Amino acid sequence: MRLGAAGAALMAAVLCATVARAQGVQVVQGVQGMQQASLPALKIVGDAIPDSLTGHKGDPARGRAIVLNRQVGLCLLCHSGPFPEERFQGNMAPDLKGAGARWSEGELRLRMVDARKLNPQTIMPPYYRVDGLARVAAGFRGKPILTAEQIEDVVAYLMTLKD
Ligand code: HEC
Repeated sequence: MRLGAAGAALMAAVLCATVARAQGVQVVQGVQGMQQASLPALKIVGDAIPDSLTGHKGDPARGRAIVLNRQVGLCLLCHSGPFPEERFQGNMAPDLKGAGARWSEGELRLRMVDARKLNPQTIMPPYYRVDGLARVAAGFRGKPILTAEQIEDVVAYLMTLKD
């Protein structure tokens, strides 16, 4: 399905709001540079986070499942990719095909953790941040959208997308 740009943007806004609600968080623009509430400090080098968040490599098969899952990652809302079995894929973001050739593992990790570090205007949600958010429901405070393990699984999967 190809949506017009306006339709796609509307759908993204609606679905992002849905994710934010599901996570019990509301994203507020312009609150930057706060300390992470409870996540460990991450070392950013250039445009990358070189070190694994868990200290080991993720599982690409689990990562693929997260990317395709419409409740967890919601990646296909914006992205398309080499997923012939998926009928509805987004067209508001680069195709994930070849992402593992375009970027290093550390570069992919920073894009997953917090794409705002590279593009403050990005519509891509920060998947492993708890700062820059306000009015977070008590039960969700300090919890990122994806866990460190899930981030590593997704990064491991993206690294397999070489062509
Ligand atoms: C609401 C839309 C949206 C969602 C959801 C989203 N992204 Fe993105 N993503 C973008 C946009 C837009 C870019 C282009 C760079 C930018 O604007 O930050 C991007 C860039 C990327 C890149 C770099 C692509 C390249 O080759 O330049 C990767 C990799 C990526 N996203 C992976 C993911 C994964 C994996 C998920 C799900 C866990 C995801 N994104 C969810 C919008 C989104």
